[in-house]
Amino acid sequence: GSLLAALPRLPKAELHLHVEGTLEPELAFALAERNGVALPYPDVAALRAAYDFADLQSFLDLYYACMPVLRTTEDFHDLTAAYLERSHRDGVVHAELFVDLQVHLANGIGADDVLDGMTRALAGARAARGTTGGIILSIVRDSPVATAHAALDAVAHRIHDLVGIGLDSAEVGYPPSLFVEVFDRAAALGLHRVAHAGEEGPPAYVVEAVELLGVERVDHGIRAVEDDALVALLVERGIPLTVCPLSNLRLRAVPDLAAHPIRALVDAGVAVTVNSDDPAYFGGYAGANYAVLVELGFTAPEFARLAATSVRASFTDDARKAELL
Ligand code: ADE
Ligand code: ZN
Repeated sequence: GSLLAALPRLPKAELHLHVEGTLEPELAFALAERNGVALPYPDVAALRAAYDFADLQSFLDLYYACMPVLRTTEDFHDLTAAYLERSHRDGVVHAELFVDLQVHLANGIGADDVLDGMTRALAGARAARGTTGGIILSIVRDSPVATAHAALDAVAHRIHDLVGIGLDSAEVGYPPSLFVEVFDRAAALGLHRVAHAGEEGPPAYVVEAVELLGVERVDHGIRAVEDDALVALLVERGIPLTVCPLSNLRLRAVPDLAAHPIRALVDAGVAVTVNSDDPAYFGGYAGANYAVLVELGFTAPEFARLAATSVRASFTDDARKAELL
């Protein structure tokens, strides 16, 4: 009722969003046609029907299979602009977008084409609606570490177009400890640091992300709930989690909503934020991820706190935070 209606009016920051995960099937086919690229599905309905995932890897296979339709500056602009416009309706006033640059480089696309398109869309959203945001270079952890360094090399000449470095893709078997040098380099370039950890991987990966990579936020981090000492560490250091409820449901990181650790993490005092991850694939943008928490008993003051936490956990400046709080 009125609780649901109030959620879009809460100003919120989206901090866990893969720009490629906003590729709606209709746009995928439009870009495939524009670029003369084939998708491994005959039409929109067939592609959408494939959105039935058993785990993270089964999603990633489809997600990467769609990426070759993204080729030009215009493509990255249109993708980013569509996301910023759509999420604004859910009250997203600040957005920090992951991009899997290594995949685009491997597809033969130039780093400048990717970043030019995204930065132009961010500037357009700022001019049109006052939305602020930034780009996070997300390292694809199941690609060779040398390609992570190559991606950093490819953006070093315009490092101020990035706000941070992240770590994503297949988690288990690719611990944060493999990326210490990459993250040290990124920190020296002035980038903020975040990493996916504890989505499918064990709590020990969350510890590694914090202690070895020096991350300022943990993406997902839900399996931290299995380790009381780790939860205490996150609380004590004020390290936020970017939780994505619909993603966790669709990728079966949790068996059902009732089993989702978000309530326990919030009650333990962890700085929890709510995000959409790959909204085109998981059945909803930021608003839908907030809305599903009504079923877990989250109240109006708790929703206000989640939204405020997202603003505080963002990498925007203090003046902008004050404006949004
Ligand atoms: N890439 C896009 N979405 C992801 C997720 N939820 N986990 C890991 N890598 C991703
Ligand atoms: Zn993610």
